[in-house]
Amino acid sequence: MPLVPPYIESLRPYVAGLSADEVRKRYRLDRIDKLASNENPLGPSPRAVDAMRASLDKLNLYPSGGIDLRARLAELFELKIDNVIVGSGSEGIMANIIRTFLCDEDEVLTTENAFIGFQVLAKSRGVKYQTVPYRDWKYDLPALAAAINDNTKIIYLANPNNPTGTIFTRHEFDDFYKHVPERVLIILDEAYFEYAEDNPRYPDSMHYRYDNVITLRTFSKIYGLAGIRIGYGFAHESLIGNLLKVKLPFEPSTVAQAAGIAALTDKEFLHRSLELNARSLRMLMDACHDLGLSTVPSEANFAMLPLDSPEQAQYIFEELLKRGTIIRPLTAFGLPHCVRISTGTIEETERAVANLRQAYVPVK
Ligand SMILES: Cc1ncc(COP(=O)(O)O)c(C=O)c1O
Repeated sequence: MPLVPPYIESLRPYVAGLSADEVRKRYRLDRIDKLASNENPLGPSPRAVDAMRASLDKLNLYPSGGIDLRARLAELFELKIDNVIVGSGSEGIMANIIRTFLCDEDEVLTTENAFIGFQVLAKSRGVKYQTVPYRDWKYDLPALAAAINDNTKIIYLANPNNPTGTIFTRHEFDDFYKHVPERVLIILDEAYFEYAEDNPRYPDSMHYRYDNVITLRTFSKIYGLAGIRIGYGFAHESLIGNLLKVKLPFEPSTVAQAAGIAALTDKEFLHRSLELNARSLRMLMDACHDLGLSTVPSEANFAMLPLDSPEQAQYIFEELLKRGTIIRPLTAFGLPHCVRISTGTIEETERAVANLRQAYVPVK
């Protein structure tokens, strides 16, 4: 038996983009705008920062396992605490789902070019990873339903989706759900939920408290807390109960839990973030439209630009980098002809747009 299982050996390690400091040094720039990871350009929720500071003098003690945040979320969403889990980001919970529910012969089903974090987690488990292509850059739910087989154990759906920014509607999900056997677990990843929830066509998964649906949400995006690693999930108590057996007992950290509890009260920050995102996204989309660049309609805090070729995508990425705007090439997602740009502050987005204007030469 090899020391490293073949499915680990064949994984490609995650290659992080250049850090802002590396870009600054390499191109001798004074200012860098990082619009590559769908982070909140306003920084972290101020209430969360205060709460984190206040939690520091308790760090000699082990954390509670997230019980206080679970209780707060249960109260807020009118659920039992047994229906709520918290963890080190929604990816932390995703990792636990993979570890808890998958057996060797099980299969995972999702879209092609799904969120890279999920791709890595599922593939590292060594089970069969089955995909269906996008249709118009959206999950092709009828094709996914048709692809379910006797071994399908987990279906992963991100809504809004990363990297496309698209959503599937309430109606589309209802139709899809009818075709999913009860033994199949649906992960509904709602990392960008807050950006889409006001869209009447967006399915609020709190209305889908089916026994085989796990909803995942995060404090990393709208609350600006990606660096502290805190996310949460809702599901039937038997699913949560099994996840709790597998979860690291002291996850999340005391500081992360304090941040999450306080962030939930920071409505002012939430509204400011949403307002900025709407303005910034509109600026970005309008500018792309003026330039003749195609975009995918987005319900999140980023926009995906499908370009003519991988070379053109790489060229735009590098030209923006030289000018101080870091965006995300999507080769690792399996989309080498696409780039993704996160919304920034108005000034950051203005600079990104100006840099795009200089960099983009339409193919005649
Ligand atoms: C669709 C999706 N799910 C989950 C995550 C990860 O969130 P977290 O920071 O909570 O692990 C991201 C982050 O980019 C994402 O885009």
